[in-house]
Amino acid sequence: MSIPTFVFSILLPHLLFVSQQCHLVLASEYHGGRWKLLQTSIGISAMHMQLLWNDRVVVFDRTDFGNSNLSLPNGRCRNDPTEAALKRDCSAHSVEYDVPSNKFRALMVQTDVWCSSGAITPDGNLVQAGGFNDGERRVRVFSPCRSRACDWQEIPNGLTARRWYATSHILPDGRQIIVGGRKQFNYEFIPKSIAAANTFNLPFLLETNDFGAENNLYPFVFLNVDGNLFIFANNRAILLDYVKYKVVKTYPTIPGGDPRSYPSTGSAVLLPLKNLKRAAAIQAEVLICGGAPKGSFFQASRGNFITALNTCARMVITDPNPQWVMETMPLARVMGDMILLPNGDVLLINGAGSGSAGWEMGRNPVLSPVLYRPDNKIGSRFKTQKPTIIPRMYHSSAVLLRDGRVLVGGSNPHAFYNFTTAFFPTELSLEAFSPAYLNANFDSLRPRIVDPKSMSGFTYRKRITIQVVITAEVSENSVSVTMVAPAFNTHSFSMNQRLIVLSDDKVKALGNSAYSIEVTSPRSRNLAPAGFYLLFVVHQDIPSQGIWVKLQ
Ligand SMILES: *[C@@H]1O[C@H](CO)[C@@H](O)[C@H](O)[C@H]1NC(C)=O
Ligand SMILES: *[C@@H]1O[C@H](CO)[C@@H](O)[C@H](O)[C@H]1NC(C)=O
Repeated sequence: MSIPTFVFSILLPHLLFVSQQCHLVLASEYHGGRWKLLQTSIGISAMHMQLLWNDRVVVFDRTDFGNSNLSLPNGRCRNDPTEAALKRDCSAHSVEYDVPSNKFRALMVQTDVWCSSGAITPDGNLVQAGGFNDGERRVRVFSPCRSRACDWQEIPNGLTARRWYATSHILPDGRQIIVGGRKQFNYEFIPKSIAAANTFNLPFLLETNDFGAENNLYPFVFLNVDGNLFIFANNRAILLDYVKYKVVKTYPTIPGGDPRSYPSTGSAVLLPLKNLKRAAAIQAEVLICGGAPKGSFFQASRGNFITALNTCARMVITDPNPQWVMETMPLARVMGDMILLPNGDVLLINGAGSGSAGWEMGRNPVLSPVLYRPDNKIGSRFKTQKPTIIPRMYHSSAVLLRDGRVLVGGSNPHAFYNFTTAFFPTELSLEAFSPAYLNANFDSLRPRIVDPKSMSGFTYRKRITIQVVITAEVSENSVSVTMVAPAFNTHSFSMNQRLIVLSDDKVKALGNSAYSIEVTSPRSRNLAPAGFYLLFVVHQDIPSQGIWVKLQ
């Protein structure tokens, strides 16, 4: 792990020279971030991750493949006669990782959480849905606490249908929708009310279900700014009015027709939402990158690892005549993650250069993240970043942290924990990728939020004032305020990931490097469902540390 740090320190004097000459050179333009190993082992492999408002990350794996490398505390064990591997299991399959102290503790799940989904409620609880075997109809709640006492609560029969490889999304009314899963061509809502106790058919999921490889799993779901849901599966998308249970729009197939959702496993983001002042002017754009060409899953099962897709497809989903625009990535990638950074850039990270998602099916790890700058001209949007030395293959994960780093973990392409195999042994480590904006060279540009420290009572359509300190001179139009929803990440998709650029900012110099920034909070729950967000002040592309705000 010392190699990337070493390279970085050699480059430092040169970078200092550059930044002294020209402050306006963007952080991402001339060097590629930094990697740090945080933990060699957290005892489990990070298949699913979610950051919570107390800066702790809930991590979980699966329960049905024997012992993990972490014991449950106080001699606790799980007795489960339905479990495939161990009927009595005294090891943990979930942990809570505390970011500021870099410490973790074991959590206890009662049933199998393998390949499940999740979202955060407006009051900040993690709601996880489904899984495998005895976990397939469970809903589980994790209520964050300041102590070390909180743990998973399970709701038996919380789901109407079995959900394995489904996608959860938070809705403007505070409920969650759970879409699809294996052999489930329907959706449902939680929590249940009498009116919505059932499942609702979605033939689109049947139409996008390829035989042999069901390329419609873990569909990419985004809440559009009009309140409808954009749902992408395989190689195309629809817009669903979930209130009237009606498909209101069918989008074109991505040119080339290759599948992008699981197990072809590209990734997708809703690009930053901005220009919020006039509702009619708000565009929503979706970017889908990488994946595996049609037939890769089948070929990989026969030992033929086809090169991954190197294309991204971008579409304005609010356009009356929407079309995909294709772009080429510097590196082909399957099983990558796409993470929205506080400054609106997209980080492509993790994954493989060939093969498919599935047991033993990936090859050629892609060790270098790639930055995508959505507002650059087409053709100059991608920048390759510094590589890690740890492959992050099938069942790896990544989430944005409040300090602007990206937490990376997991990778286990085997049906069991396997530390002896030559091909990508099970990874129990956690790393952090620090994008270039965290480099100390940019400290003079970096805003520091002095007031407030956090915000409750953050309501819709409200003028709010943030006080920051910025040492360097602040020019007009160089400051913005962004809000990022903490996402539930698994299988290369970040559910509920969303970045809103607040509008109407007025920057006022207060003297002594202090500034007050006035912005308007989001105008509606369709733009930003109620709940916890990380709020950042960004100056010349360099973000502050975030503060937690609770939008309500
Ligand atoms: C996990 O435990 C196994 C068996 O107990 C051991 O061989 C392996 O080295 C451990 N791995 C890590 C990363 O701690
Ligand atoms: C780990 O992988 C090796 C090599 O493929 C295999 O022989 C062994 O059975 C595997 N162990 C487990 C526990 O799956």
